[in-house]
Amino acid sequence: MAEPKILSGKDTAKEIRQEIAVEVAKRKEAGLKVPHLAAVLVGNDGGSETYVSYKVKDCKEVGFDSTLIRRDDDITEEELLELIAELNVNDDIDGFIVQLPLPEHIDSQRVITAIDPNKDVDGFHPTNVGRMNLGLDGFLPATPSGIIELLERNGIETSGKHCVIIGRSNIVGSPLSVLLSRNRKVGNATVTLCHSRTKDLAEMARQADILIPALGKPEFVTADMVKEGAVVVDVGTTRVPDNSKKSGFALKGDVKFDEVAPKSSAITPVPGGVGPMTRVALLMNTLKAARMQ
Ligand code: GUN
Repeated sequence: MAEPKILSGKDTAKEIRQEIAVEVAKRKEAGLKVPHLAAVLVGNDGGSETYVSYKVKDCKEVGFDSTLIRRDDDITEEELLELIAELNVNDDIDGFIVQLPLPEHIDSQRVITAIDPNKDVDGFHPTNVGRMNLGLDGFLPATPSGIIELLERNGIETSGKHCVIIGRSNIVGSPLSVLLSRNRKVGNATVTLCHSRTKDLAEMARQADILIPALGKPEFVTADMVKEGAVVVDVGTTRVPDNSKKSGFALKGDVKFDEVAPKSSAITPVPGGVGPMTRVALLMNTLKAARMQ
């Protein structure tokens, strides 16, 4: 088998950020508003701190305004809902996200549902989930949307292919199954959505032309689970302790890359694959929100 094509989300996301920066500059020239993303961060969870800091950094790079709104983890649900009500009517903010997970005493679904769907750049509001399911225009969730963009920009054919997704989460597996089966340029796939009750998962995975593990179990997918020539999109980004790293941890994908890569025709690395695409998809949604204002 020839060397696999490395699907570099890092390079593809960079290309998209450059396109976004050009559009922001054009908007400025035309006297239009600079897109403004706000992120609400409750508490001090390490992962959430990192993700939100990336979001702020990404905004800066493309010329967006950003606002980070911090609240202590003892904030009440009512107080958080009041904050959301304020952001909903703040004309300066085009879109906002509430970083998940929220503390246990807060009903996350109630919070998400309180966000104005026209500012829900995470695409988590039931209205946006419904719009996606019906094929109507709206905000798509960042990771599935980033994966679609990665496949499109790297010329990966999905039409008529068998895509096997492992993991049925509300933010990745489930929406990705919808997007890949739509009648669109990147779509028209036959999708199998596997989960913890799937019988003989390895046999299912071996049927895949495009295999997309999104279950968050480091190195779960081994070479024996992959068909020769398959495209492999690794959504896993689990933090595992690593003393050789300054941060004290390393990011591990769901795929045993070294043994799976030689069998695949194309594969995403971790880090540098799906992660950067998720980040840039949020910028794409924020630009869209600004255009809609
Ligand atoms: N936590 C993990 N991923 C996400 C995401 O895409 N958006 C938000 N708001 N929280 C997250």
